[in-house]
Amino acid sequence: MKARKKTDSRIAIVIMAAGKGTRLKSRHPKVLHQAGGKPLLAHVITAATQVVPAHDVFAVIGHEADRVRDAVNDSGVNFVLQQPQRGTGHALMVAGESLSGYDHALVLSGDAPLITKQTIERLRDFHLARKAAMTVLTSILPDPTGYGRVLRVGRGDDVQAIVEQKSANAKQQKVKEINSGFYAFAVAALKQYLQKLDTDNPHGEFYLTDMAAILRKAKERVVAVICTDPFEVLGGNTRAELVDIDQRMRMAKCRALMAAGVTIFNPETCVIESDVEIGTDTVIEPHVQLRGKTRVGSDCHVESYCVIHDSEIGDEVLLHPGCVIESSRIARKAILGPYCHLRPASDIGEGARIGNFVETKKMKLGKGSKANHLTYLGDSEIGEGVNVGAGTITCNYDGTAKYKTVIEDGVFVGSDTTLVAPIRLGKGSYVAAASCLTDDVPANALALGRARQIVKEGWAKQKRDERAALKNQENKAKA
Ligand code: UD1
Ligand code: CA
Repeated sequence: MKARKKTDSRIAIVIMAAGKGTRLKSRHPKVLHQAGGKPLLAHVITAATQVVPAHDVFAVIGHEADRVRDAVNDSGVNFVLQQPQRGTGHALMVAGESLSGYDHALVLSGDAPLITKQTIERLRDFHLARKAAMTVLTSILPDPTGYGRVLRVGRGDDVQAIVEQKSANAKQQKVKEINSGFYAFAVAALKQYLQKLDTDNPHGEFYLTDMAAILRKAKERVVAVICTDPFEVLGGNTRAELVDIDQRMRMAKCRALMAAGVTIFNPETCVIESDVEIGTDTVIEPHVQLRGKTRVGSDCHVESYCVIHDSEIGDEVLLHPGCVIESSRIARKAILGPYCHLRPASDIGEGARIGNFVETKKMKLGKGSKANHLTYLGDSEIGEGVNVGAGTITCNYDGTAKYKTVIEDGVFVGSDTTLVAPIRLGKGSYVAAASCLTDDVPANALALGRARQIVKEGWAKQKRDERAALKNQENKAKA
């Protein structure tokens, strides 16, 4: 018979995410607070599902369970409801039923988002190799205050107990090896001894940490493995810890991008979220925010104060300072800004230009077209080689409904034009400056939509002369 490999064990992952997060002083559940642009729990799920398939992951939720479930539902993991939340040990009691089909359970904390696939795998492998009933992932912290302390038996791997900060005596408080809140359990031993937990502690909760002493007393094997990177186990219990975690995540993201050939000046001032992708030789200036599922191509230049959400930017695009771009697409070699606002569904063509103080929404600008100054283009379809003059406005809204403006290839729209939609400017047509157009313009036509200019010869000089004569008379009367 073929020997069973250690990885043949059936392994589940339980993520404890039901707690309220009292120390954050927040109205929102702790695991939905964000770091690196995503909820804490989403990061933990990402790491977990790199180790086992999503259908073997069980998230224990409770406080504001519906909101938490909605936020991470598309990950495909299972949810277990813990109601009320009576501690980390209780979370496992509730999850127990889901674990029947498994040999081992890896237990993660939903509030510690820096954990990596590699560390979870190390925890698993160490646990399986030692044939332990319980394995605790630990870390050595210069300041262990607040964490549970791991008490080893001598210098070996065996653990005697975990004591929580509040219950630790002076000597135990000096121990620098802390409990990370990540564990591996043999499911059989866990289930057999879980009901021995009690609530005899300062919080009146079932502490999962007490399992160490319980299992050891029952002559089961309890061991500890040290996580070499102490930052991986940081929990976001307070606002300060959350900000610290967020910063570490962002720097890690920037470093990964730089390693892949992206230049990021002053990376500590940039907000680049975890799902963002950037091509090689692109340069990101200080104070840039790239968020959500944004993808930036190669050889782009993104200058300061650009804020880009969920958008796709082609290669060799130049974004001058202050471009705000949401859910839009920009084709290669386009040049935008400074200070433009692309609202959702803007589609900027190859080599096109959007200049300062231009706002767009639900519009397509064709290849090589330009809208360089002070313009609003909404609900519109603009062809190739079009020039949209300064101050052009598409009047797309009549107070009730939205209407479309179509500008065909090669049109020239003079400055300060209002286009009252629905309207179509035919191919190659020409709109005189300051026109207000309400009707379609045929191809190659000239449209003038303004009052005819009147000129009164000599009028200004005559006015000046009259005023001077009046002033003269007044001065004479005073003398
Ligand atoms: C826990 C450990 C502590 C360890 C620390 C590491 C216990 C008793 N203590 O403390 O030894 O050093 O983690 O970060 O476990 N949760 C539930 N249901 C509950 C209570 C909590 O699902 O009833 C979840 C929380 O949402 C959280 C996780 O369990 O994601 C840990 O709970 P938390 O209250 O943050 O424990 P710590 O005080 O940090
Ligand atoms: Ca915690």
